[in-house]
Amino acid sequence: MALDLKQLLDTRADEIYELHSRHINPQFVKVLRTIKFDRAYTRGEGSYLYDAEGTRFLDLISGYGTFNVGRNHPAVRAAIEQALSLNLPNLVKMDCATLSGFLAEALVERAPEGLDKVFFANSGTETVEAALKFARAATGKPAILHWERAFHGLTMGSLSLNGCSQFREQFEPLLADVRELPFDDLNALEDQLKRGDVAAMVCEPIQGKGVYVPSEGFFPEALRLCERYGALLIMDEVQTGLGRTGTFFASEQFGVTPHVLTISKALSGGAVPVGAVLLRDDVHKKTFSRLDRCIVHGSTFYQNDLAMAAGLATLDVMDEEDLVGNSARMGELLRGRLEQLKEKHSIIRDVRGRGLMLAVEFGASGGFIGKMGRMLRESIEPALFTQAVVMTLLEKHQVLSQTAGHHVDILKFLPTLCLTEADVDWIVTALDQTLSETSVTGTLVKMSTRLGRQTILGR
Ligand SMILES: Cc1ncc(COP(=O)(O)O)c(C=O)c1O
Repeated sequence: MALDLKQLLDTRADEIYELHSRHINPQFVKVLRTIKFDRAYTRGEGSYLYDAEGTRFLDLISGYGTFNVGRNHPAVRAAIEQALSLNLPNLVKMDCATLSGFLAEALVERAPEGLDKVFFANSGTETVEAALKFARAATGKPAILHWERAFHGLTMGSLSLNGCSQFREQFEPLLADVRELPFDDLNALEDQLKRGDVAAMVCEPIQGKGVYVPSEGFFPEALRLCERYGALLIMDEVQTGLGRTGTFFASEQFGVTPHVLTISKALSGGAVPVGAVLLRDDVHKKTFSRLDRCIVHGSTFYQNDLAMAAGLATLDVMDEEDLVGNSARMGELLRGRLEQLKEKHSIIRDVRGRGLMLAVEFGASGGFIGKMGRMLRESIEPALFTQAVVMTLLEKHQVLSQTAGHHVDILKFLPTLCLTEADVDWIVTALDQTLSETSVTGTLVKMSTRLGRQTILGR
């Protein structure tokens, strides 16, 4: 008898958390239970998740920024179903794969001029690993530079560029010749480049951890400096790419074409793991330089038909529904409304970001909330005030959000790019009410007594 997934879920859905606890990650289950995120969502559609009772939740995490076109988009699903029904000759390996050329062409059409080669991968971290190898091969130099707070993935190479010690702890020594730079600091960049051994500077155009935006002039000058000293500028757009920040690539807003640009997450509509490195021909040639080096980098599943079909459909949907434009419009609306909240709630220290990659940073303020927030920050864990906000948003307002990293009081919004004006109202009303004394105070008191000194993030 064929597997019946519906029947499996109908009969055993209540075992999901228990199975995870037993076989997958008991610590993660404990965290979810502690912050009351141990819910059973049964359906996802567009910007929303639903539980068995039909309660609708607004998803502002969207799979860490994967569902730019919305969850379970019918056009993406149809493309995958069609690819399966065509019985395509998937992963022959010793041929040119059927669909990857079409997706490469579609990506190059949308990319800044000069990025006309595409290397496919299966995840964000794989694109970064590939970019590091391409940079070493292209320059013949060893060193890699990255920013403080950087996040480029969690495999050994990309982890070496991670600006957060919690992620690196226990896994060192990592890649040699990797150096961290202060954020947005051209002098520090030039000092390193002058040493003459730098293969590449790797940056997120807008940092995911904390949503920090570099100054306007940084990237054009960084590119100039990299070229002067024979290094590559690699822009990691795994999170910022595909319309997230209000343009197709965030690098467009900074007026630069890097030598290498990485994308992943949203490229297949969240349906199939995928990633792509866009790079200049002269850089590509240095790695794939001879007949016997034609597959010197790659992986078994890269260019697989389902990912490629989903990618082609996703790009179509983005055009058809003008999702890049919607990201810019809704981003501006939401940001403006959050700025207004800042006037009302002194606990909001900053509102920042571009398009639909936004952050609200909390800081010191007077009153009871301010005192509780300070107490949590100083005595237990800096991110706990935000965690209390995140919990209240979900429990009382059905809004799923996240803190923007370890030990920071920053709330991050990464919704789908199909967000509507009604959704913006939903978010702003929920946050406004959550930050009012009565609502968040209860959660803060409960959390501080319940959690005690237990740190819930990253352990
Ligand atoms: C900028 C950036 N690069 C790389 C990655 C790693 O992607 P993945 O989790 O698919 O390996 C992420 C993931 O959040 C990211 O935000």
